[in-house]
Formats: sequence, structure tokens, C-alpha cells
Amino acid sequence: MATIHLTLAPLLLLLLVAGITAQRAAPAPGPAGPINITAILEKGGQFVTLIRLLNTTQIGSQINIQINSSTEGMTIFAPTDNAFQNLKPGTLNKLSSDDQVKLILYHVSPKFYTLDDLLSVSNPVRTQASGRDRGTVYGLNFTGQGNQVNVSTGMIETRVSTALRPERPLAVYVVDMVLLPEEMFGERKIVPVPAPSPQAKSPDVSDDVDSTRKAAAPTRPTSERSGSGEMKVGLGFGLGLVMLCLKFLI
Ligand SMILES: *[C@@H]1O[C@H](CO)[C@@H](O)[C@H](O)[C@H]1NC(C)=O
Ligand SMILES: *[C@@H]1O[C@H](CO)[C@@H](O)[C@H](O)[C@H]1NC(C)=O
Ligand SMILES: *[C@@H]1O[C@H](CO)[C@@H](O)[C@H](O)[C@H]1NC(C)=O
Ligand SMILES: *[C@@H]1O[C@H](CO)[C@@H](O)[C@H](O)[C@H]1NC(C)=O
Ligand SMILES: *[C@@H]1O[C@H](CO)[C@@H](O)[C@H](O)[C@H]1NC(C)=O
Repeated sequence: MATIHLTLAPLLLLLLVAGITAQRAAPAPGPAGPINITAILEKGGQFVTLIRLLNTTQIGSQINIQINSSTEGMTIFAPTDNAFQNLKPGTLNKLSSDDQVKLILYHVSPKFYTLDDLLSVSNPVRTQASGRDRGTVYGLNFTGQGNQVNVSTGMIETRVSTALRPERPLAVYVVDMVLLPEEMFGERKIVPVPAPSPQAKSPDVSDDVDSTRKAAAPTRPTSERSGSGEMKVGLGFGLGLVMLCLKFLI
């Protein structure tokens, strides 16, 4: 009896101590907590514009949801506030809300990449904007030299710098320039100017988007979208959201 007691005592003590440390340790690292892209960017301290755009386009919350169910993970290239300020004045405001959505989706790749992965990845790399318009790539090219990785859109080239978050399943890298897709800003795709002409991009837009437009604005002829600026923006944002929801449902 006495021997059993003696051998059990240290074991029990060990279990007790292990239990306490486990309990203490559990909440501290907390890698299992839900991923919140807004919170990650807020910690970075220089992403107010991006956070606003992720919010207005609702892409931020879609990322939080999608990252949860994704096996591939995701990579986000986060332009700083400085990067947005260095755009030509009015660049963002001139974009339709659908194009704002595409611009932001262009900064998101549906796969997790380490910096090492990016050094050797095969170009072009798909983004979340890929395949939104027929016949467009919306890809990113990565080139490396030593440890330095550059990203190119065909319009601009910039360094991929600090990782705000390097861990699977979501990598977030800082970029000092807004990644402007050639499909939207290149010579052949001139930024649409509000004018009484029918939308030049209509043929590119897929059928489901077209039917969304009709469904979302049954009482308004589509030509009215090029009418008052304010109405266009309001309506556009609504449509953008509907299209985004559809996209994720399909
Ligand atoms: C994500 O973080 C932001 C900022 O910290 C917070 O306002 C928001 O409620 C969070 N979202 C979720 C889904 O927890
Ligand atoms: C996000 O957008 C909602 C409205 O869509 C707004 O109420 C909220 O203040 C915005 N949050 C941020 C952080 O911009
Ligand atoms: C992520 O998944 C977990 C369980 O799988 C769930 O509890 C959590 O609410 C999900 N988070 C989001 C943002 O969908
Ligand atoms: C990426 O590189 C390929 C060739 O490797 C080129 O054809 C393509 O235009 C480039 N795209 C961008 C976005 O730079
Ligand atoms: C990466 O881009 C920066 C900025 O455009 C440029 O100065 C540098 O030469 C590029 N590096 C490589 C390896 O292409």
C-alpha cells in the first residue's frame, strides 16, 4: 500500500502541474482564434484606406469567412496609406464600385504563399479578380533576386516587403504601391469617364452579372446609371454587393 502511494504521489502532482500550465498557456498563444483581416491591418497602423475599402466592398468580411473554409489559404498584398496617396488624384473615385471591388480583389490571391514560394512561383499568379471578366487574366508576376521579391502588374512594379502576418493560412504582405491591374488601367482599358454613352465594358461582363443588374434595378433603365453621379455611386455600391454575394454563392 505504502509503495503504491509513494509512486502515485509524484505522478498526481505532475498531472496537476501539467493541467495548470496547460490551462494557463491555452489562451495566450491562441492561434485558433478566428482570423480578422481588419484587426491584422489595424495593428499595422498604416492601412486606413485599405481597411475602409475592405469594409465598403465587404471583401474584408468575405476574406474572414473564406479563409475559414479554404484549404489553400490566401495571400493579401496590402498597400499602405502612402501608396493610395501616391495615386493620381481621383483615381479611386473615378472607378465604378464594381471596378473598386475588382481592384481590391486583385490584391488577394486564393492561395497561401511564403516569400520563398513567391521567389519560385510560376507566373502569372491568379488573384481573386481573375476570371471575373471573360478573357482577362488579372494575374500578378513575381520576380526575385536574392531574398528580395518584386511584384509586377504590367503597369507598376514594386517590392513585396514586410509580412504583417506570415503564417498559414493567411499571409499579408505590405506593398508600397497600389497594384494597378493592366486590365483596368492599361492603354487598351481606359478608365470609363461618366458620359452619356452606353458602357463600353458591357460585352465583357458575364451573363450572371447582367441578370443581377436587371434584378437589382427592375424599374430603372440601365442607361440611367450614367445619369446623376450620386445615384450612380449609390446604385453601384448596391450592385457591387449583390454581385459579390452572387459570386460567393455560385
Ligand atoms: C475585426 O476587428 C475589427 C477591428 O479590431 C472589429 O471592429 C471587428 O468587429 C472585428 N470583426 C469580427 C468579425 O470580429
Ligand atoms: C464599415 O461600413 C459600415 C457601413 O457599411 C459602417 O457603418 C462602419 O462604420 C464601417 N466601418 C469602418 C471601420 O469603416
Ligand atoms: C470559422 O469556423 C469555425 C468552426 O469551424 C466557426 O466556429 C467560426 O464561426 C467560423 N468563423 C467564421 C468567420 O466564419
Ligand atoms: C507576366 O509575365 C508573362 C511572361 O512571363 C507575360 O506574358 C505577362 O504579360 C506578364 N504579366 C504581368 C501582369 O506582368
Ligand atoms: C524591384 O522593384 C524596385 C522598385 O521598382 C526596383 O528598384 C528593383 O530594381 C526591383 N528589383 C528587381 C530584382 O527587379
